[in-house]
Amino acid sequence: STPKTTPKYVAAIDQGTTSSRCIIFDQDGAIVAVDQREHRQIFPKPGWVEHDATEIWSKVQAVVAGALANAGLRADQLSALGITNQRETTVLWDRRTGKPVHNAIVWQDTRTAALCNELGGADGQDRFRDATGLPLASYFSGPKAAWLLDNVPGLRARAEAGEIAFGTIDSWLIWNLTGGTDGGAHVTDVTNAGRTMLMNLSTLQWDPAILSAMRVPEAVLPEIRSSAEVYGTAVGQLAGVPVASALGDQQAAVFGQTCYGVGEAKNTYGTGSFLLLNTGNRPVPSKSGLLTTMGYQLGGEAPVYCLEGSIAITGALVQWFRDQLGIISAAEEIETLAASVEDNGGAYIVPAFSGLYAPYWRSDARGVITGLTRYVTKAHLARAVLEATSWQTREVVDAMYQDSGVQITSLKVDGGMTANNLLMQHQADVLGVPVIRPVVAETTCLGAAYAAGLATGVWQDLDELRAHWKRDAEWAPRMPGEVREREYAQWRKAVERSFGWLD
Ligand code: G3P
Repeated sequence: STPKTTPKYVAAIDQGTTSSRCIIFDQDGAIVAVDQREHRQIFPKPGWVEHDATEIWSKVQAVVAGALANAGLRADQLSALGITNQRETTVLWDRRTGKPVHNAIVWQDTRTAALCNELGGADGQDRFRDATGLPLASYFSGPKAAWLLDNVPGLRARAEAGEIAFGTIDSWLIWNLTGGTDGGAHVTDVTNAGRTMLMNLSTLQWDPAILSAMRVPEAVLPEIRSSAEVYGTAVGQLAGVPVASALGDQQAAVFGQTCYGVGEAKNTYGTGSFLLLNTGNRPVPSKSGLLTTMGYQLGGEAPVYCLEGSIAITGALVQWFRDQLGIISAAEEIETLAASVEDNGGAYIVPAFSGLYAPYWRSDARGVITGLTRYVTKAHLARAVLEATSWQTREVVDAMYQDSGVQITSLKVDGGMTANNLLMQHQADVLGVPVIRPVVAETTCLGAAYAAGLATGVWQDLDELRAHWKRDAEWAPRMPGEVREREYAQWRKAVERSFGWLD
């Protein structure tokens, strides 16, 4: 008889824009237990969004404890811990006290728009695109760090003296998990470093020319490591557990969806939506408004790159419809309301609340509703809200094709909005390809767990992970092609109306 082996478990922390979550997985990649807590959104001025990094760290500790309790497991039964996180959000902290010097500046925050313009100078928005794969936009971390160094009194001098640490949320968590002021590891992974606009995509190191252009002292920066390796050992409630992966949340979803081959893509529907296409071991430059970004790097292996279409507002438009307009009282009601009419009645909503990200990168865009007549009801608007998500995704898919020549034949999806059947059907309709959701829709945590488990021998290789992926639901396109193209033209007209609202 075969000897019984002790079951292995891997925990993942997903520190997201609105909440933190801890999920414990078993060796089959199935969920054993979950815990989740929200944290405060701080809006000091229009366009500014901050988080309290200390609150985030305490919520993370609470969800780790909660997930362990729900699973009935002790920390010493975990083989590894993986980290995934909201990307770009920027923390600076004092290395000696461990305290953040200011609230974290969140990815959505637009305070650096003018600074980005200045940095572009005569070269414009694409000044650092060859080196970083990114256009100058308030979305990325480097200018956020520069803003803090210039605006927190005395900070620049302290930073130059080596007293201050910079990190995206992965670095902040790993430093705290591995001991904090008592010798915590100050590291980040290539996927997170790649979103700072300070990392060179070819060398995978901080780019000295960009650091000096942005006036970010090297002394504040973490060491850039792969996405799957042991960065250190946790102390405290997770004492002894190897901290063995870090990936930005969208890259973790790529990994959890097992998009390991060139041409495989996933779209995650959350606050915003992020469609990433695996382009293999070389960065593919974009001419169509996409980002060239890291996919993942497993230990010493060659890095994998992606093209990314980032959409700032998708799920957040449903929240706006609920909280600001009060037309529905719970997010799931939007589906029933939208399903009470045949179509959008001619109305289109372009949710350019923080400008438009991919493929436009226009900070002068603001939201518009077009096609209003007395015929239009709140039910038509509910449809327009959902359709805004699928049309924005269509634009990103078109840009992917233009940049890579890869015509997707199906789209793997995940995230909260994939529970909405009407939206998923419309998504399949406007793309003209099937949309497929896996059984484990928590692909972000799963991807971080997979990477941590690979680094610690829980799983042997990518084929083993691929075998875990199982289809849960699939939507096939039904819309006639001429309807699709007519409505797409209307959508693009609406997008043009959203430009030019800033002086
Ligand atoms: O780039 C921003 C993205 O990482 C945020 O994802 O899921 O926290 O809204 P989420």
